[in-house]
Amino acid sequence: MKLNPPNIDPEFIPKHIALVMDGNGRWAQERGLKRTEGHKRGEAVLLDVVDACIAMGVPYLSAYAFSTENWRRSADEVRFLMGFNRDVLARQRQELHEKGVRVKWAGRRPRLWRSVIRELEAAEELTKDNTTMTLVMCVNYGGRAELVDATRRLAEDVKSGKLAPGAITEKTLGSYLYDPEMPDVDLFLRPSGEKRTSNFLPWQSVYAEMVYQDKLFPDFTPQDLFDAVEEYARRDRRFGGVKK
Ligand code: IPE
Ligand code: IPE
Ligand code: MG
Repeated sequence: MKLNPPNIDPEFIPKHIALVMDGNGRWAQERGLKRTEGHKRGEAVLLDVVDACIAMGVPYLSAYAFSTENWRRSADEVRFLMGFNRDVLARQRQELHEKGVRVKWAGRRPRLWRSVIRELEAAEELTKDNTTMTLVMCVNYGGRAELVDATRRLAEDVKSGKLAPGAITEKTLGSYLYDPEMPDVDLFLRPSGEKRTSNFLPWQSVYAEMVYQDKLFPDFTPQDLFDAVEEYARRDRRFGGVKK
């Protein structure tokens, strides 16, 4: 696909985009199709988004693929989503590798299908030295679960005497998260018309710029990503300070 990224000063390109891939079910239902048909369409869309990030020089993209709350869906849909995540990783990891994408997984291990974990880990292993960009696949991810998991590991270290409670800083807590290297989210992007974060990257997004778009994810295009980045670049970020 020929991409025409907007000409934006590199200073105003987000270093980390969090993308909520939402609206697949509605997209399918509007067409009289099964919800799963919408999920299937999302595969190519995500790959286009990766290309668009590379074209713009966005170094980190986190994609919300399955939340800790998505287990509430029908057994059929959950089963489909598990198998689908596994197969997308198996199908796409070589191409992502060839593009220089480093794939990482952020999420909770218990309950997640072993075959999905296997594919996530195989993709991580294959691509671990890549430097073009990082794609974090958030599978069985929940922001509260992430903080609980971090707290448990941190508490173990306090208990064993490795860490003093008084020495715990924001940086310390950050180092116990699923991906300790993950930069703060600059642009939090959610298509599908919903204006909420749905438990995605709360710790990392405290100063993120929120951009909500109405398109459903299966219709999402690189141009929508470019539009979101242009909007982001126009925002005045103050981080609690005052405008210079
Ligand atoms: C997002 O699309 C995919 C996942 C949550 C796995 P949805 O399945 O939530 O689609 P809508 O929001 O019901 O349209
Ligand atoms: C968020 O979408 C999770 C993913 C896209 C993976 P949901 O569709 O699950 O979120 P809610 O239910 O609308 O908040
Ligand atoms: Mg949804």
